[in-house]
Amino acid sequence: MKILVIGQGGREHTLVWKIAQSPLVEKIYCAPGNAGIAQIAEPIPMGNDFDELADWAESTNIDLTVVGPENPLAAGIVDVFRERGLKAFGPDKRAAQLEGSKDFAKQLMVENDIPTALYRTFVDADEAIDYIKTNNTSVFVKADGLAAGKGVIPGRTIDEATQAVKTILVDKAFGDAGNSVVIEEELIGEEASFTVLVDGSYCLTFVSSQDHKMSHDGDTGKNTGGMGAYSPAPVMTPELHDYVMERVVYPTVKGMANIGCPFKGVLYVGLMITDAGPKVLEFNCRFGDPEAQVLLPRLKSDLVPLMMACIDGTLDQLADVQWHTEAAACVVMASGGYPNPYQTGKIITGLADASLIDGVNVFHAGTKQDGENVVTNGGRVLGVTALADDLKSAIEQAYRGVSAIHIDNAHWRTDIGYRALSRI
Ligand code: AMP
Ligand code: GLY
Repeated sequence: MKILVIGQGGREHTLVWKIAQSPLVEKIYCAPGNAGIAQIAEPIPMGNDFDELADWAESTNIDLTVVGPENPLAAGIVDVFRERGLKAFGPDKRAAQLEGSKDFAKQLMVENDIPTALYRTFVDADEAIDYIKTNNTSVFVKADGLAAGKGVIPGRTIDEATQAVKTILVDKAFGDAGNSVVIEEELIGEEASFTVLVDGSYCLTFVSSQDHKMSHDGDTGKNTGGMGAYSPAPVMTPELHDYVMERVVYPTVKGMANIGCPFKGVLYVGLMITDAGPKVLEFNCRFGDPEAQVLLPRLKSDLVPLMMACIDGTLDQLADVQWHTEAAACVVMASGGYPNPYQTGKIITGLADASLIDGVNVFHAGTKQDGENVVTNGGRVLGVTALADDLKSAIEQAYRGVSAIHIDNAHWRTDIGYRALSRI
């Protein structure tokens, strides 16, 4: 098979790495890819023109296109490919609204009695501010649309929440993604995420994982795309797993089919485990990043037939998925300054040495080739990942990998997995 992967981050490097292990695969292309991806897939220098990409896929006889990030999914790349008879993995535009519009997701949850925080949606800033003043509780204010993980602002006081509404609705800090805001009550607890492959109706669960969204140790600092991840996540007990399947995953998948938007692809459920049980914080319509970096190395089965089965609606025939028993940890090395503005073009050294460490894989996120050198080209630069017998060893090995690498001014969290370790 010839496979095209769309995207350029750590998740896509991990996807390409896993796909390359499939005996079914003859050649992998990536649009646009990064320096790490280019070692295993041929980079295709193409932008966001879906028709152009589909033309290229048609003339190159691509058998499967795998879409990594949410933006092309929400913009309808799968619809364009499907209309041409090309197989593309991921939800179509209507189903991707589950991530693309927080209001859409909240309505679906309410209609299907899925546990989530109480909320209201506003397009008018004055009405939103009135609500905040009347309600007077700690809230989270969220841009309705896609904002690269940055559109969620805590509003723990009336002033903070009012400012958040102004930032989103008046200053348009996230552009059209902030044409409306969702204001929801703050939930207290430990976060966990849940990843499921869905073929429109059948659901196949991945092992558990958890990321660290905050930029600095102790879950302090600013919200980021994710500074590290680990799998398994001990917070997700078998009882919680069953509860989430029954109360969240099945009703979501059925609810989407009932409104004529069958969901095919990766359903990622972000949860808060509260004293009153798990409640949904968000849905994503693709693998988490950096969660993919710890989930895919643990998958023993071939990913390619699983993705094909999601498209064809035959996932039930592949229910016997095999997993490696080892645990995985990923430490993200980020550019100095990230998630605030940061410099790029810094030379990265030690990549080969890190890869020689037992169980370590270095997945590239924001990198590019510059002559002989691999240089930084994004906020999150590398996902240094390790697989080992248990979580503690996986974390230690991942940090050994980090120690072998040098990037001027880089920063990373030194406490990845601390909540999990305290539970074990
Ligand atoms: P989201 O993109 O909606 O998952 O929000 C990003 C992050 O903000 C989550 O991972 C949580 O850490 C936090 N968050 C969002 N909504 C809430 C909420 N209702 N209560 C507490 N924390 C929240
Ligand atoms: N790591 C969180 C996300 O991918 O949305």
